[in-house]
Amino acid sequence: MNVRKAGIKVNSLFSVNEKVVLITGSTRGLGLCLANGFADAGAKVVINGRKQSDVDKVVEQIQCSGGRATGIAFDVANKSEVETCIKKIEAEVGPINVLINNAGIQKRAPLEELRIEDWKMVIEVNLSSAFYVSQAVFPYMKERENGKIINITSLNAEGARPTIGNYCAAKGGLKMLTKSMATEWGKFNIQVNAIGPGYFITDLTEKLVNNPDFDAWVKSEVPLNRWGIPEELIGTAIYLASAASNYVNGQTVYVDGGWQASL
Ligand SMILES: NC(=O)c1ccc[n+]([C@@H]2O[C@H](COP(=O)([O-])OP(=O)(O)OC[C@H]3O[C@@H](n4cnc5c(N)ncnc54)[C@H](O)[C@@H]3O)[C@@H](O)[C@H]2O)c1
Repeated sequence: MNVRKAGIKVNSLFSVNEKVVLITGSTRGLGLCLANGFADAGAKVVINGRKQSDVDKVVEQIQCSGGRATGIAFDVANKSEVETCIKKIEAEVGPINVLINNAGIQKRAPLEELRIEDWKMVIEVNLSSAFYVSQAVFPYMKERENGKIINITSLNAEGARPTIGNYCAAKGGLKMLTKSMATEWGKFNIQVNAIGPGYFITDLTEKLVNNPDFDAWVKSEVPLNRWGIPEELIGTAIYLASAASNYVNGQTVYVDGGWQASL
């Protein structure tokens, strides 16, 4: 195939320059790292978290390093707050070209002791939120016949671990929600994919990193023999947000040091 005939310019295949990229849960951890990566690549990032003061701090830090950022605090699990804030971003910041559903939490307990509130909260924040935010962004992307949605799942969409049954159920559900959105919204030129991180060093995994047994287990199981560092997710996210992945739809890319590949 002649790439020029297909209207593809190879030197701008991975460009996210000028794109408005909303990243939920981007005040710290993987979301913050992705926000910095997209800002460095020329995107206008929209920072989100639950507290406006945390959001403002990140916006200021990105702007001070020469990047473009705005921010809006909302609870991704609150559907009406989500709808109001998506409208506001579209009106005041610009068309959301890329949505990254990244916000997530864990509430650990053995299944037989897991409180109903903690089951529901983990399902709401890790799974339902991606439905709420994507559903709110969808009419705008549909109208423009253009959009990219990236859901952050986990290795736990494939394999379970004790005490995180709620999280595994949510991430497994998010993997299938990714396929459902890809199936229904592809006809509007909206590509929906997921990134499944392996074990990365963030606040979410701090206790595990500091647990010598768990740390040794991760290092022995991952073929690369180490934890991931958040910056190692940026390339995959930029790929899935750019024209380079225009015919990739409904996939999960595991960024896991080879864990999925080995027994
Ligand atoms: N760290 C890892 O090793 C790892 C591995 C696999 C998947 N993940 C997934 O990656 C995502 C980010 O994880 P992380 O390690 O950076 O976690 P983190 O705890 O460091 O950061 C989570 C972010 O989500 C935000 N958040 C939480 N609840 C929210 C809500 N209701 N509304 C809005 N924002 C909310 C927090 O404010 C924070 O900014 C999560 O979905 C997590 O499940 C992480």
